[in-house]
Amino acid sequence: MKLEDIGFYTLSDARAASASEFSPLSRCELILTDKCNFKCPYCRGLKNQYSGDMDFDKAANVVKQWTLHGLKNIRFSGGEPTFYEYLPDLVLIARKTCEHIALSTNGTAPLETYEGLIKCGVNDFSISLDACCASTADLMSGGEAQFEEICNTILELSDKAYVTVGVVLTPDNISEVGDIIDLAHFLQVNDIRIIPSAQWKQSLDSFKINKEILERYPILEYRYNNLKNGISVRGLSESDNHRCPLVLDDMAVVGDDHYPCIIYLREQGEPIGKFTNISEVRAARARWYETHNVYADPICRMNCLDVCRDYSNRWKELHS
Ligand SMILES: C[S@@+](CC[C@H](N)C(=O)[O-])C[C@H]1O[C@@H](n2cnc3c(N)ncnc32)[C@H](O)[C@@H]1O
Ligand code: SF4
Ligand code: SF4
Repeated sequence: MKLEDIGFYTLSDARAASASEFSPLSRCELILTDKCNFKCPYCRGLKNQYSGDMDFDKAANVVKQWTLHGLKNIRFSGGEPTFYEYLPDLVLIARKTCEHIALSTNGTAPLETYEGLIKCGVNDFSISLDACCASTADLMSGGEAQFEEICNTILELSDKAYVTVGVVLTPDNISEVGDIIDLAHFLQVNDIRIIPSAQWKQSLDSFKINKEILERYPILEYRYNNLKNGISVRGLSESDNHRCPLVLDDMAVVGDDHYPCIIYLREQGEPIGKFTNISEVRAARARWYETHNVYADPICRMNCLDVCRDYSNRWKELHS
């Protein structure tokens, strides 16, 4: 399988063939704030030490340093990143080298906020849509989800940028997954990413998605086929690569801390170190790559995602 077939524009055989400590940075994610207007029951938030907004000078320095290493794909997230006052300023800095500027958002900001961000350079929105009706949306968001407004925002943005809908599956919405996918399709999104919540270990083989829909959305098809074929969404097995080449040209940062990847950060693992200078950080990441057996690390072993696992295994194939 070629990595392109998965459907993520950040994952390709060309990247895997050339990725190293010295190649341009490929995919970096910055957490800007822990503030959020939702209380999704499945969301575990960030470590206490990262509460509040990231200091603007620090955030700007991180993005500047990334652009110095040729970063192509950046993602801003949170909490809810649209609450971060200086998001437009960071987007303008990222524009220097980034071809894709992505935002993970719950879709509740006013449409004008998103349109303003598009003017600055955001061209990719990952919007959470965990329901196909207002009552389930309220349940999944832990409050009043503004369901209709979010749907309208998704529809409007789909016309102006690359939009992926993210659907976290839990026992509360699993019976609606087919209808959520139909709704996302109706809203004209570019792709659909379903993912069982990190806490939900039960296997999902109880739903069907029709062929025409699957053929239209590569990431959905990839994940659906994995679920259908009993290939776990999370976790590593003995036969998988025991090193993680993604750490060579990916980064995930919150506060001053650099993490191996966004999963590692969300699972509250230990950071690789504090940010000082980009060359030092890359060298530290390369050391982590060389010395860290990810199969022996319970965070990676339990939580690594199928896409990352496939990338890592393909990397090994291409370099053997
Ligand atoms: C933490 S949110 C931050 C961005 C924004 N507030 C949002 O909800 O899209 C980033 C992504 O993580 C997902 N997420 C949060 N908790 C999760 C969990 N326990 N398992 C799987 N995905 C989760 C969210 O659905 C969202 O797609
Ligand atoms: S909207 Fe995002 S950050 Fe907020 S609680 Fe839900 S998943 Fe967490
Ligand atoms: S969770 Fe996966 S992608 Fe993240 S560091 Fe571990 S092996 Fe690498």
